[in-house]
Amino acid sequence: MTEIEQTAASNFAQRVIAWQQAHGRHTLPWQQTRDAYRIWLSEIMLQQTRVATVIPYYHRFLDRFPTIEALAAASLDSVLESWSGLGYYARARNLHRCAQVVVAEHAGKFPIDADDHVRLPGIGRSTAAAIKVFAFGRRATILDGNVKRVLARCFGVDGGISPAQDERLLWTIATALLPESHLEAYTQGLMDLGATVCHRHQPACALCPLNVVCVARREGRQTELPRGAARKPLPERSSNVLLLDDGRRVLLERRPPSGLWGGLLTLPEAIGESPERFAQRHGCRVFGTQALPPVRHAFTHFRLTIHALRCDVAGSSGQLGESGCEWLPRERIASAALPTPIRRLLLSAQRLR
Ligand code: ADE
Repeated sequence: MTEIEQTAASNFAQRVIAWQQAHGRHTLPWQQTRDAYRIWLSEIMLQQTRVATVIPYYHRFLDRFPTIEALAAASLDSVLESWSGLGYYARARNLHRCAQVVVAEHAGKFPIDADDHVRLPGIGRSTAAAIKVFAFGRRATILDGNVKRVLARCFGVDGGISPAQDERLLWTIATALLPESHLEAYTQGLMDLGATVCHRHQPACALCPLNVVCVARREGRQTELPRGAARKPLPERSSNVLLLDDGRRVLLERRPPSGLWGGLLTLPEAIGESPERFAQRHGCRVFGTQALPPVRHAFTHFRLTIHALRCDVAGSSGQLGESGCEWLPRERIASAALPTPIRRLLLSAQRLR
């Protein structure tokens, strides 16, 4: 870097640090610790989820799994139960596997080097850097979605050639801007700016410490940058499921361990089979049916409408149904490892009875 570039970078960092110290967030639960387990957990939860949603999950998760050893020794189902409702369940599966690797291969101590973190399940480059900064006080570059927006606007990175090239450019800029000290305030400051000032829609530029140097602001292009932020409408899919209810329990199916809703319990689809035949295979018979109001859910890549047919059944016995199905007592609906739309559907089906 030239001297002028160095001065500009240092000026940028000083603005972020001073702003964070005066106006940033200081009382988030994971800011009160240097415990790598807690910081790692918070960073994974925060990957796709907002702070206000994460906080109660974070506390409940730590109550249930207070140490990395407790998490490593737990069943995947209990981890998914605690994650249930947060979405993006691959995060929970990776978290569990990562805990097992850290316990088995690193004696339960998080490896300090960011390169080691990147090799652990579920920990990408930016998350590794955040752990390095917040848990170990090291110097490392973060670039999560919010920070990309701040930097793309501030430096006018406008998707000229390709998203991959933008991404490389943003990493280069982010690394060049790193200050020599106050890494925690600086890193938190970038996150805080992205989350509380440089909103995707209607950024609060008047409050931003970078407003005098921001290219997007100078050129009135805040809504245009970053490119690629405009979302295409998601494709629509639908699914027909059966809700077999014997008055005390409902029949659920465990999803395969990976992929969409991997490892969670969901309602079975009866493809090419009548509800009566399906029920018969599960040792019961249908004596009444009711179509339930459809439930909609947005995934990252598509929208799903779930059409459920409630079948009141009699004669079921045992706990396990056929082929990966199990009977779940109704009182466990609130706490079991269910995706949010399925839990909603089950709870509303009870109210409709
Ligand atoms: N988003 C990602 N990491 C975060 C953190 N440590 N604090 C607040 N928001 C975040």
